[in-house]
Amino acid sequence: MNRVLVTGGAGFIGSTTVDHLLARGYQVRVMDSLQERVHPRGWPAYLPKEVERLQGDVRNRADWERALDGVEGVFHLAAYQDYMPDFSTFIHVNAVSTALLYEIIVDRKLPVQKVVLASSQAVYGEGKYRCARDGVVYPSSRPAEQLARAEWEVRCPTCQGPLAHLPITEDQVNPHTAYGISKYTLELLAFNLGRKYGIPAVCMRYSIVQGPRNSFFNAYSGICRIFTLRLLHDQPPVCYEDGLSLRDYVYVGDVARANVLVMEDSRADFRAFNVGGQCATSVREYARIAARACGKDIEPELSGEYRFGDTRHTVSSWEALGSLGWRPEVPLPQIVAEYAAWVRAQPDMGDFYARSAAQMRAAQVLRQAGP
Ligand SMILES: NC(=O)c1ccc[n+]([C@@H]2O[C@H](COP(=O)([O-])OP(=O)(O)OC[C@H]3O[C@@H](n4cnc5c(N)ncnc54)[C@H](O)[C@@H]3O)[C@@H](O)[C@H]2O)c1
Repeated sequence: MNRVLVTGGAGFIGSTTVDHLLARGYQVRVMDSLQERVHPRGWPAYLPKEVERLQGDVRNRADWERALDGVEGVFHLAAYQDYMPDFSTFIHVNAVSTALLYEIIVDRKLPVQKVVLASSQAVYGEGKYRCARDGVVYPSSRPAEQLARAEWEVRCPTCQGPLAHLPITEDQVNPHTAYGISKYTLELLAFNLGRKYGIPAVCMRYSIVQGPRNSFFNAYSGICRIFTLRLLHDQPPVCYEDGLSLRDYVYVGDVARANVLVMEDSRADFRAFNVGGQCATSVREYARIAARACGKDIEPELSGEYRFGDTRHTVSSWEALGSLGWRPEVPLPQIVAEYAAWVRAQPDMGDFYARSAAQMRAAQVLRQAGP
């Protein structure tokens, strides 16, 4: 395989994957719509000049047809990601685009040999827990009334007792957001159509991906961006809930390496993999790591707010991908330091927090707990 297409290749994970592909000798074509809020200045300067660029939308058949012409492998990474309640857009961009991809491959008998798709940890919803009485459980999202009372921990769905969180393995999905559902739909399409037509698919369930190029114009992308920008403007990072939610964070270079690995290794065919970070980190601990990376002595602020639909503890196990020889190599303090250095070097670094928080409040995504 020599010629590959990367959808969303101007983005954060896409462009880093492009770099890894070029280094391994692939000819790379990128199709990207240059979504306004990610790329307000058009094609990003970091995209190497040897990459063939097509501006196109993965919802559009004619754009896919141009993009797929002559390629042997596809990385389908373009997606719609948000916390806002525009539910149908997730399905259109993430799921319908995948159906369209296979529709065109089959219709035109294209020689595509393999497809790697960006899925997400979001397919697990609230994740995996152990109850002392009921064993391993996969709870639904926390009820609105519970969150309004500022009771943050997930309760056992059977006995309502306390739960201990477990590393999430690939065996059980339980998406509860339109984004998570769109990603799981994409997986079902890729695996089932891929098997039917003999095109191996691999779905990559990334945890929270971090590193340079994570667009800071995008109001909704990531803790690293929000905390770093707040700190660099001498403002405290704002933690939702009690700041003790656990997450795992993975370096974008490690993710790009995983994407290329599964494209090249047939043992990955027709499998879904977690692509996770080194360890579980609380949001408060993250804020302290970010403060150190920015050289600021600023404690995080607890606003008493919560994002409706957020999960409590989601930490992935990367053991399955580990069996193919992959591991997350870059520790969190190094990831955050690298991101902070990159942000500092950008010309128009604004503190976008207040505006995005106001938008989320207006849409009732960001809510105040308590009486
Ligand atoms: N960043 C994370 O933490 C994370 C975690 C889990 C999954 N993912 C998934 O990884 C993939 C890449 O995410 P990212 O963080 O690099 O995001 P990003 O926003 O930096 O990149 C996405 C790219 O897709 C393009 N795009 C958006 N809509 C498009 C459309 N309709 N047609 C064509 N191009 C379009 C955007 O312009 C952008 O360049 C996505 O599928 C995302 O859902 C990301």
